[in-house]
Amino acid sequence: MHVSDIRTPDTLMVFDTTLRDGEQSPGAALSIDEKLEVARALEGLGVDIIEAGFPISSPGDFQAVQRISQEIRGCVVCGLTRANEQDIDAAAAALEEAARPRIHTGLGVSDVHIRHKLHTTRDEALEWGVNAVKYAKSFFEDVQYYTEDAGRAEPTYLYRVLEAVIGAGATVVNIPDTTGYTTPDEFGALIRGIRENVPNIHQAIISVHCHNDLGMATANALAGVVNGARQVEVTVNGIGERAGNSSLEEVVMALSTRRDIFGLETGIRTRRLYPVSRLVSQLTGIAVQPNKAIVGANAFAHSSGIHQDGVLKERTTYEIINPRDVGAPDSAIILSARSGRHGLRHRLAELGYSLDEAQFEKVYQRFLQVADKRKAVDTRDLEAIVEDEARVFFEETYQLEHVQVSCGNRSIPTATVRIQGPDGQTFCDADHGTGPVDAVYRAINRVIGEKNELIEFSVQAVTEGIDAVGRVTIRIQAEEPVDGAELPVFSGHGADTDIVVASAKAYIFALNRLIAARREAEMAGNPDRS
Ligand code: KIV
Ligand code: ZN
Repeated sequence: MHVSDIRTPDTLMVFDTTLRDGEQSPGAALSIDEKLEVARALEGLGVDIIEAGFPISSPGDFQAVQRISQEIRGCVVCGLTRANEQDIDAAAAALEEAARPRIHTGLGVSDVHIRHKLHTTRDEALEWGVNAVKYAKSFFEDVQYYTEDAGRAEPTYLYRVLEAVIGAGATVVNIPDTTGYTTPDEFGALIRGIRENVPNIHQAIISVHCHNDLGMATANALAGVVNGARQVEVTVNGIGERAGNSSLEEVVMALSTRRDIFGLETGIRTRRLYPVSRLVSQLTGIAVQPNKAIVGANAFAHSSGIHQDGVLKERTTYEIINPRDVGAPDSAIILSARSGRHGLRHRLAELGYSLDEAQFEKVYQRFLQVADKRKAVDTRDLEAIVEDEARVFFEETYQLEHVQVSCGNRSIPTATVRIQGPDGQTFCDADHGTGPVDAVYRAINRVIGEKNELIEFSVQAVTEGIDAVGRVTIRIQAEEPVDGAELPVFSGHGADTDIVVASAKAYIFALNRLIAARREAEMAGNPDRS
């Protein structure tokens, strides 16, 4: 990528780091197939660059970057490295088959990073950075350099580093506010300062990468853009380290809603924002807060009488974005059992789901069950069904066949489960617990025996009413390492009109994911696995 490759001077490049910085969110670990699915969705969404991972960090990350490089042809595929030859070698190998590969290398520029993390001096750090760019350039033309913690760096040193790395061939310079410390005015001034003080800055694209520790990541990124950045680094739903990164959907919709201020275009197909948000939330197990801008469940809900009255008279009285423009569901569209396969297929396509025949059949059977109970199935019920039935990107070693509980205020909660295991064998067991879900989980543990700790359990009613579909999301932590990670966390979800059944499904989903991750790590030859 070169500065002249920007589509027009009025274009902002969207660099998506959901699979790298986003995946650094605690418990967001994705399997290789899941990463590939997200990469396909990002390509369909129209992002310009996909940061696919950090290849040296684990065999799984290496393979994910490799597979994404092999398959994704419509975007630049990028791999992260530290400023050393070993990391760059790994990234170059993983990106070898990419149509448009990019290495993203870099080093800290704030004194706190130089002294306490790198244990070096400013001059030596600058030299490492320049050498890393030169080495990365020996593999690919497109090299992006990150100046970690630029938000807290001394500006004149930052200018010196940028001039040197651009001189060494960096095509894009990334200015991260790594700790989310700056305010929009400050961050905007930092980007302006770079444009005014780095003599060769016109030879590179300025990228902004903001974190959300003070809730200003989107505002800071936009301030950077107003001051001349032409690449913005974002994640779907704003997930990422700690409080997360600038959110893709917020940045994109701010640009399109306030074109009068920003005057910039992106290549994003905004109608895919909501389906991609759902996909990422479901695969990472990170729920989207209901009041999240653009993609939250309440982002287009009007509950006060005055607002409802206004919207009914004229939508724009209280809506600055048409929900359809971001692909948000119109929950008023109702299906019933009479809608048949054709009606369901049509509605699923409208919602952006593309399912193969086997997946569609599973969804259809579940749809019939729910339609039988609820009579009317709205968009949110449908989303829950699809997420439950069709989005499984790993081998399911165990399948729940039957769950039965007995509980009440004077009885000991007891559960019986029947589970189909490897080779179609069926196992039946029972246990008691402090409540019905605890009893079910203990009974499942007796069958599956995969040691873990339940660290999060949440239930959400997807739709209103006593017969609503309930969605259970859980996180479990393995008691042994997988793929070199410390003690990885796996999320699971399940949806059913019976929340005990939904809980059992969520647990088996998470356990299957844990087992699949172990298998994947073993196949990738990770020495940490026994
Ligand atoms: O926040 C940060 O500084 C980063 C860099 C690695 C780009 O994520
Ligand atoms: Zn970051």
